[in-house]
Amino acid sequence: MLPSHAEILAIRTLYWPDEAACAAAAAALAAHRGLRNATIELEGPLGAGKTTFVRHLLRALGVGGRIKSPTFAVLEPYTLADGTAVAHLDFYRFDDPREWEDAGLRDTFAAPGLKLAEWPEKARMLLPRPDLRVRIEPQDDDTRRVVMEALTPRGAELLA
Ligand SMILES: Nc1ncnc2c1ncn2[C@@H]1O[C@H](COP(=O)(O)OP(=O)(O)OP(=O)(O)O)[C@@H](O)[C@H]1O
Ligand SMILES: [Mg+2]
Repeated sequence: MLPSHAEILAIRTLYWPDEAACAAAAAALAAHRGLRNATIELEGPLGAGKTTFVRHLLRALGVGGRIKSPTFAVLEPYTLADGTAVAHLDFYRFDDPREWEDAGLRDTFAAPGLKLAEWPEKARMLLPRPDLRVRIEPQDDDTRRVVMEALTPRGAELLA
């Protein structure tokens, strides 16, 4: 699953019995200052809860209004009250690298801010090394096992 060059600096396994546990984990992550410049990849099968986690994270960061899944748009941008740019990305339907330029993703990843990417597997060649990789694994009883891997010192700080 992980490319061999992706050295893992820290790892944490969580259990989310319900969506409230997901919301609590998102709120804990939102409290870290370093989050505002982090790149986070969200892995897991269809319906695992990747968008749900992003919604709770954005709410905890003060985003109001509707939070759409970027499945069709690839990118949904937000700006936090302190000016932090947030990019919520979903590469599920991404199959042409030209979209990378067309959707302005080169600029998005060159700029500071928080990047949250669903289905990073579909754009692996283009994506920079993330700070954190979050893998949501739904269990038979609808609970979630969640593995968080830090791939950079910033990512490790987010797990601390
Ligand atoms: N932690 C959770 N516990 C229980 N149910 C959850 C949890 N997270 C999400 N769900 C349920 O799963 C449904 C699908 O979640 P979501 O759309 O977030 O999945 P996704 O991983 O983003 O899927 P996709 O790959 O299609 O983008 C939600 O509508 C919600 O009802
Ligand atoms: Mg989704």
